Parts: sequence; C-alpha cells; structure tokens
Amino acid sequence: MNSIKHVAIIMDGNGRWGTKHKKSRNLGHKEGLKTVEKVIKATIKNKIKYLTLYAFSTENWKRPKKEINFLFNLLETFLKSKISDLNKQKIKLKIIGKKRFPKKINSLLYKSEKDTFKNKKLQINLALNYGSKSELAYSFNQIIKNKKKANEKNISKYLFTQNIPDPDLLIRTGDTQRLSNFLLWQIAYSEIFFEKKLWPDFNEKDYYKIIKKYKNIKRNFGNI
Ligand code: FPP
Repeated sequence: MNSIKHVAIIMDGNGRWGTKHKKSRNLGHKEGLKTVEKVIKATIKNKIKYLTLYAFSTENWKRPKKEINFLFNLLETFLKSKISDLNKQKIKLKIIGKKRFPKKINSLLYKSEKDTFKNKKLQINLALNYGSKSELAYSFNQIIKNKKKANEKNISKYLFTQNIPDPDLLIRTGDTQRLSNFLLWQIAYSEIFFEKKLWPDFNEKDYYKIIKKYKNIKRNFGNI
C-alpha cells in the first residue's frame, strides 16, 4: 500500500455552487470554506503531513473586484478567528505565491506564518496569488542570480515549495479536467483524481474514497 505524505487540492466549483443554489457566487465561496475545515480535520485523521490548497491563482485577478474583495475578506476573517485554533492543533501555515496584497492582508499572512512556524502535526500550504509558471520563472532567475546550474535539484530548491515533498495526490473538484497553472513541476509523478462534485459539496467520505483508491495504485515512477 502507498504511503501518503502530501495532498494537493484544486478547490473548484464554488461559484457554480452559488448559482446552482440560486444564490451568489460569493455564497459558494463561503460554503467552500466549510469544506476547507472538514478536509483539514480529515487530513489530520489520516496522518497526512502536508496539505496544499489552491485558494487564489495569479489568473484570478481577472475576476470582478467585488468577488476578489469578498475572497480576501473571507480569508482575513478566517485567519483572524482560526489562527489560534490552528496553532493549538499544531498546524503550520505557509503561504505559497507572491505576497503582493494590501498591507493589512500581507501583515496578517506574515503573522500567521510566524505564529505557527514551529508546528509539526500538519503543514498547510495556502496557494495565494500563486501561478506555477511565475514560480518557475522566479526559480530560474534565482539560479542565474546565484550563478548555479539549472539542474532538477536547484530548480526545486528555489520554488516556493522548497523542502516540501512533491504531492503524492492531486485532487481537483468541480468536474473540470485541467491543471490551471498549479504545481506543474511538483506534480510530475502525482496521482491525479478529478472529482465531479463541486467543492462545497465535497465531503470527508469523498476524500476517504480517493485516499483509499490512491493507496491501492501501483506506483512505478517509470519502472515496471
Ligand atoms: C475556485 O472556484 C475557487 C476559488 C478561486 C477560491 C477558493 C476559495 C475557497 C475554497 C474559500 C476560501 C478559502 C480560504 C482558505 C479562506 P470557482 O469560483 O472558480 O468556481 P467555478 O468554477 O464554479 O466558477
């Protein structure tokens, strides 16, 4: 059976969930946050050490300002109300992506990372203003700047995910089969599961089912 250290998730379908329920897209995001909390609990129960959540991509800036503001207000409320609880649960929070947000959001993100830095039970990597192509470009530029060789080890070293093992498992909800500029280097050998359910409808049972299937896959990594 495969062990599992790192799960990465593209939490897709919030907006559609809102409109499907004759409500706003933003209500879908609010509901999606409840799924985030369920999945964190289930990840701990499964003794998984790393959980990477795609919360806001470099492309999501194209969305209406009202939706962007709602998402960042939701993030702010979440962090302000939950960070001490995450800390008690020994959860470490790391932001992956460029922290180019309004000052109060940036300070909150730095503080949340600092407050939880020593925790070892679960590391949550929250992808915010994250794009894989810009992450790779950043890594290559660091290599040039430091006059290093552009080999696999050095490219990985300068990614936002340095020292984090590559995801064993990538899940995308929302009945869409694309990668949307997410961890393109890191998922070279990840097992990918596309889930039909919209993110707010995704629950612990769906998560466990995927984990069970993953555990029984024969992973060869190019070998036979
Ligand atoms: C993609 O669904 C989802 C997002 C861009 C935002 C994800 C945010 C959350 C799950 C809630 C906030 C999380 C934190 C940690 C504060 P979509 O809006 O693209 O859905 P659609 O494909 O139906 O339009």
